[in-house]
Amino acid sequence: MRDFQASPKPLRILAALIVLLTVFIASAQQPGADGVGDRLYPQLGNGGYDVEHYDISLRFTPEENHISARTVIEATATEDLRSFNLDLYGLTVERVNVNGAIASFERDDSEFIITPATSLAAGASFAVAVDYAGVPSPIADPGVSFVKLGWQAWEDAYFGAVSEPSGAMNWFPSNNHPSDKASYTMRITVPDGLTAAANGVLTEVTANQDATRTIIWEMSDPMASYLTIVAVGDFVEFRDDSGPVPIRNYFPAGLDADIVSGFDVTQEIMSWLIDLIGPYPFSEYGVVVLPGFPAALETQTLSAFGAEEPDPIVIVHELVHQWFGNSVSPARWQDIWLNEGFATFFMALYLEEIEDHQGMELLLSVAQADLPPPGDIEVSELFGPSVYFRGALTLNALRARVGDDTFFNILREYYQRHAHSVVTTEDLIAVAEDVSGRDLGEFFDAWLYREEMPDGP
Ligand code: ARG
Ligand code: ZN
Repeated sequence: MRDFQASPKPLRILAALIVLLTVFIASAQQPGADGVGDRLYPQLGNGGYDVEHYDISLRFTPEENHISARTVIEATATEDLRSFNLDLYGLTVERVNVNGAIASFERDDSEFIITPATSLAAGASFAVAVDYAGVPSPIADPGVSFVKLGWQAWEDAYFGAVSEPSGAMNWFPSNNHPSDKASYTMRITVPDGLTAAANGVLTEVTANQDATRTIIWEMSDPMASYLTIVAVGDFVEFRDDSGPVPIRNYFPAGLDADIVSGFDVTQEIMSWLIDLIGPYPFSEYGVVVLPGFPAALETQTLSAFGAEEPDPIVIVHELVHQWFGNSVSPARWQDIWLNEGFATFFMALYLEEIEDHQGMELLLSVAQADLPPPGDIEVSELFGPSVYFRGALTLNALRARVGDDTFFNILREYYQRHAHSVVTTEDLIAVAEDVSGRDLGEFFDAWLYREEMPDGP
């Protein structure tokens, strides 16, 4: 450290000036960054603030697949901000307010740049209200070439949004990155005769004068924007309160009874997973069946499925994500194996323990293909076989290396320590080393980052 007292006077003044200037420059009003620095998605998310809550009021007109909405965002500035960005794709913005005062804004592709009338000081909480409308344009994301993301129509009768990874920005402005989770209120207004299912707990249904209803959903635990769902259609609610967690499923009216009863195993699977991992993270669970939806997706507290008889291991997969992915979420997209490797591992475990199949052997046979390392992927590999299968095999190898008891203690501790938060692969390694008392750096390095697949644990 420099000794100011001992320096000659001019030097001391110079040194003091440098210190002051640095402070001054650091506190000068800056624009917030247009991304959070995600290697795979540099433009997703934004810097300079942290969102606590989204309150989305959305009026939906099915004839045109049109939305008219106001989203209010409560956030805290993490630096002094002259302007900041949200992510929003398409739609027309009508008005932006920051703390009740009109703010100016610009649009540049999916960057939505807002300049409040008064700059925001680091640490200040602020509210942004955005009024907007239009017909959402589904998003083509290089991470999922097989589906369109965000708000869209399925079979002209079901509407809404599923988004992993980038789609949320086509129906509400957000800090569109899992590193900034927040709670949500969704107030969805639909014509009488339709219903709207969304994340969290259904808290209110209000009949309006104009033959519409407003349905309010409250997601009070933190949620990543990619896990939001809205599903609008002629749905019937099926409740199952026979197990440890209230289950409410939304099925299209008249759905084939075999598909409906295919979800009956959910409570059993729920109990099995609670025993293995720890308490279910949220207050309710369920699925919504969307005819024409080509996959299954673990949207928080309400997974989305297509209109097919569900395979129990897919029910397992999406339910596991509620712990691993939804409650414990990736801080960066390159760590997606922490979602998919875990969910796939439990599919194999279910086959092995419950259905008495050779689940892990099945996994290993898929992996004969010599999969590239899942820890260091490009965007096109986000949902590729190495993330799912070499990810799962990494966990199975860890299990063989430390033994069953220690392995499941690691999973439980990892969940408990990071519930409702975000993690990187290093956080998992730290827990595994703490719980096992072993140095596992070399082990994880070989499985996750080195080209050649290890041939044993
Ligand atoms: N997370 C999903 C799964 O576990 C796959 C995600 C693909 N994205 C999507 N929007 N369908 O199966
Ligand atoms: Zn998955």
